[in-house]
Amino acid sequence: MTAFVEQRLLHSPLRWGMVGGGQGSQIGYSHRDAAARDGLMQLCAGAFDIDAARGRSFGISLGLAAQRCYADYQSMFAAEAARPDGIQVVSIATPNSSHYAICKAALQAGLHVVCEKPLTTRLEEALELEALAQAKGLVLGVMYGYTGYEMVQQARAMVQNGELGAVRLVHMQFAHGYHATAVEAADPGIQWRVTPAVSGSSYVIGDLATHCFQMGSLISGLQVESLSCMRRSFVASRAPLEDDAHVMLRYKGNAVGTVWASAINIGSAHAFKVRVVGEKGSVEWWDEQPNQLKVAFIGKPEMTYERGHGYLDASARFERVGGGHPSGYFDAWANLYRRFALAMSPEPQAKDLLAGQWFPSGQDGVEGVRFVERCVASADQGSAWMDFA
Ligand SMILES: NC(=O)c1ccc[n+]([C@@H]2O[C@H](COP(=O)([O-])OP(=O)(O)OC[C@H]3O[C@@H](n4cnc5c(N)ncnc54)[C@H](O)[C@@H]3O)[C@@H](O)[C@H]2O)c1
Repeated sequence: MTAFVEQRLLHSPLRWGMVGGGQGSQIGYSHRDAAARDGLMQLCAGAFDIDAARGRSFGISLGLAAQRCYADYQSMFAAEAARPDGIQVVSIATPNSSHYAICKAALQAGLHVVCEKPLTTRLEEALELEALAQAKGLVLGVMYGYTGYEMVQQARAMVQNGELGAVRLVHMQFAHGYHATAVEAADPGIQWRVTPAVSGSSYVIGDLATHCFQMGSLISGLQVESLSCMRRSFVASRAPLEDDAHVMLRYKGNAVGTVWASAINIGSAHAFKVRVVGEKGSVEWWDEQPNQLKVAFIGKPEMTYERGHGYLDASARFERVGGGHPSGYFDAWANLYRRFALAMSPEPQAKDLLAGQWFPSGQDGVEGVRFVERCVASADQGSAWMDFA
């Protein structure tokens, strides 16, 4: 299967730019690594940093031409639009509250976009961006990177082909312990996460639970009907934003779900887990062991499915390296960037190469922001049940 990664899929890589993701940022390198992996996108320009001089010198250090390292996204979009070889795609990896304005400007400039999650801090903004992308015929992808793993696709395929029977339960958690004290005082990359004007109306719900929600929806195929949320800040200075949240979900149909998102779960690194239980069996995936999927069928002992084996669904056999070798986070991201590139490329063969593969889209971004808004509204009204729609 490794031939999959060494075919020349596009004659010309997409000309790609970045906003944010500057030197020392948490997520910038992940985007650059993923976009470069298959040679389908080429970094040509950037407005990498809120500090223009630092962003410029960082871009130059990455090998970009100095005149294509911009002070801000507005000048980048204007100057690149005037070039015959201007960028076609931009990735946005800035703190949450800036996504809307940057994404809107990018779409208005005719650029395809990969935006970080949460797509925006307000639902009406997310809906506007998705409508704008549709109206312009542009691709809007949202970087729910964990969904690029083969074993996540395996879980999804097992629900879709009926192996688990009708889904009854979806349990999701993303509960790390890195922020059990006020560590933000010494780290601006954490400080903005607990600052409402930048993070939005939530901390761990938008930062962590949105990954759970999107992953649970993807695997189960279910839609939420209503939810109830409890949130709390155990580090008091973070209030009104929460560092721990619990959500109960009622799905359309008969299924129920839970989400636990936390930054104060001492002893835990990530603990991002999704467990889906159906009438006939269950699957469970942890991001810290991404090459394995726990599988159980009623009346039988639990099994562990391993990445890269012939017993997996064909749709989950897109491995970059054979079974037995550990594949990880950067591979999952590259898998998604590959699909973004194929969806965005004007070359005629690209759509055929993408056929049958999904990617986290603007609509996923909208639903993630809707989830945040409903959770916050519920929590702030004493955990009242909220209709999701
Ligand atoms: N998909 C994931 O798994 C994942 C993981 C981490 C972070 N994120 C998301 O990525 C985004 C960035 O998070 P981070 O942790 O990398 O933040 P960070 O604070 O570490 O880095 C932010 C970067 O953006 C730059 N920046 C800020 N405003 C800018 C602007 N207006 N123009 C240009 N550059 C600007 C900063 O200088 C910095 O380089 C957030 O929305 C976050 O939720 C997603």
